[in-house]
Amino acid sequence: MFRLNENYLKLPGSYLFSTIGKKVNAYAAAHPEKKIIRLGIGDVTQPLAPAIIEAMHVAVDEMGKAETFHGYAPDLGYEFLRNAIAENDYRSRGCEIAADEIFISDGAKCDSGNIQEIFSTDNKIAVCDPVYPVYVDSNVMAGRTGTYNAETGTWSDVIYMPCVAENGFAPELPKETPDLIYLCFPNNPTGATITRTQLQEWVDYANKVGAVIIYDAAYEAYISEADVPHSIYECEGARTCAIELRSFSKNAGFTGVRLGFTVVPKELKCGDVALHSLWARRHGTKYNGAPYIVQRAGEAVYSEAGKAQLKEQVAYYMRNAHYILNGLRDAGFTVSGGVNAPYIWLKAPKGMTSWEFFDHLLEKVNVVGTPGSGFGPSGETYFRLTAFGSYENTVEAVDRIKGI
Ligand code: MLT
Repeated sequence: MFRLNENYLKLPGSYLFSTIGKKVNAYAAAHPEKKIIRLGIGDVTQPLAPAIIEAMHVAVDEMGKAETFHGYAPDLGYEFLRNAIAENDYRSRGCEIAADEIFISDGAKCDSGNIQEIFSTDNKIAVCDPVYPVYVDSNVMAGRTGTYNAETGTWSDVIYMPCVAENGFAPELPKETPDLIYLCFPNNPTGATITRTQLQEWVDYANKVGAVIIYDAAYEAYISEADVPHSIYECEGARTCAIELRSFSKNAGFTGVRLGFTVVPKELKCGDVALHSLWARRHGTKYNGAPYIVQRAGEAVYSEAGKAQLKEQVAYYMRNAHYILNGLRDAGFTVSGGVNAPYIWLKAPKGMTSWEFFDHLLEKVNVVGTPGSGFGPSGETYFRLTAFGSYENTVEAVDRIKGI
């Protein structure tokens, strides 16, 4: 008789954004006349930039001719894309990352969920609290997190690093030594950042204690301040302790196209074993690569036209972020984020819990956000709004929220 992976049974509830989706759909079905504005999940709304569409059309035509048809992609991804990434995301910022240290994938969500697989199940993870739920849930599935305490909303074998107003939503070095440290900056959900000097402290710490940092830089395109690092490889010593995850979803609108990559430097080793070879082994075995058409679309992100168009797209979303941040601050809300990130983190008013505020906003003004407690216990009484809506909807949502 087969048995289940019982770790799955330990997972409380469903995935955060599925729960929200179900609630909102139920409300919409019961109130079809209401115009609901969705600023919950960080899903983009602007169409793909013309340079990207053009590259996709060309690639589609190539696929229709025997001489230019492409079957399986190379294991790590096409060289044209890996070279463009190495040059534009790394070398141009003074980071020594070679094209063959870049693994193309169908997105940072999958990579952030899968990367734990190459580590022993008795490794201890440290996460920020609040945190993008995928990091914790994927470790629960692997059996790495111990038991769940429903009262505190915490796992017995996870080291939580509270990111709260008192520390500027930046984690402090943990008292207990972790093996794997998940960091995401600019941060999802709080929109907070850390400086290059602060990140250097994490790199030094990881090298000292022999930990690996899994650094999620999915939101780097939104950085506006000079002392905020775009990549962990801007820090000295990161090549021996850090894996970096990147996405094309937020900087180029690929949430529905799917493309991302993971950087594993060859110096990152456990004894004699390079993590690069393990991840390459995993990639080769379990993955057949992002589609050629999509990788050509990714290449266009780095063309001169693509860069200019995407700069405008990011500016469009950041205008929303500023509108939310300033609008709600003027209305008396306690707000942060929204300067180097497309997320605004606000305190629920009138002593409401995160979910109470979620229900209140949905029912009273038909605006959807994400309850902070869904990201971890320190997110309780907070609420996340995304800047990825249209400008018109963002303005209307803020005006509605101000009126509550
Ligand atoms: C979010 O809303 O936190 C993100 O869109 C989720 C994701 O990128 O998977």
